[in-house]
Amino acid sequence: MRYFIGNWKMFGVPKSINMLKKINTFYLKDKNRKKYRVIITPPYTLLESYAKFFKNKKISIGSQNCYQKDQFSSDTGAISPYMIRSVGAKYTLVGHSDNRNDGDTNEILKSKVELALKNNLVVVFCIGENKKDKKNKKTFSVLKNQLLKVLDKRFQKNKIIVAYEPIWSIGTGKIPTKVELEKTVIFIKKVLKVVLKKNSPVVLYGGSVDGSNVQLFKEIKEIDGFLIGGASKSSKKFIDIIKNYYR
Ligand code: PGA
Repeated sequence: MRYFIGNWKMFGVPKSINMLKKINTFYLKDKNRKKYRVIITPPYTLLESYAKFFKNKKISIGSQNCYQKDQFSSDTGAISPYMIRSVGAKYTLVGHSDNRNDGDTNEILKSKVELALKNNLVVVFCIGENKKDKKNKKTFSVLKNQLLKVLDKRFQKNKIIVAYEPIWSIGTGKIPTKVELEKTVIFIKKVLKVVLKKNSPVVLYGGSVDGSNVQLFKEIKEIDGFLIGGASKSSKKFIDIIKNYYR
């Protein structure tokens, strides 16, 4: 099974659902549809209406983040995993570099993952090295640390998806070489087996994925799908990624 996850970031208003309807129409006609899943993470404001609309359809809805406290609290502006699940979303991203930049420590991320799982959300846990780590050949140690500090063997394999997103690649048009990426994803899966004490969960790649470079990623068998930012804000570009992947 492959995964195509569209991360809308700060994009979208109620009528943007038309883009998802187009993706849904494409999906229903696609002869490859049994081979993949489509998940979209719109902003919080759209979670409930989109999740309702797609309830019995093939596109799943997730949130881009969640708060590290359960149910209700007095933290202004915060949205808990419990609240996200209550409006019908099934997934949540945790640890996107934007949120790590805003102060999400490993401790906070661990709490987010635990509470999201407790509330029956599938967690898409994002990891990735920055430009300096890469230059100093620290990529593997950084990734290992990000996994070890947050995940553990209590977590069910099919409730966790790991998204490898090199920070220097997000929104820049720069992507890792095939050799580099293959080695890194194999390394991540090896670490995950140790950390979770079971077979590796699904591992995605994210960072400047588009319709023209997706064929290159396809050659790397260990990559189970993609977390797509910029190109998910156009139904055509998003559909092109899927089409070109299966071409
Ligand atoms: P990008 O973003 O595809 O625009 O590089 C990916 C992400 O931030 O998840």
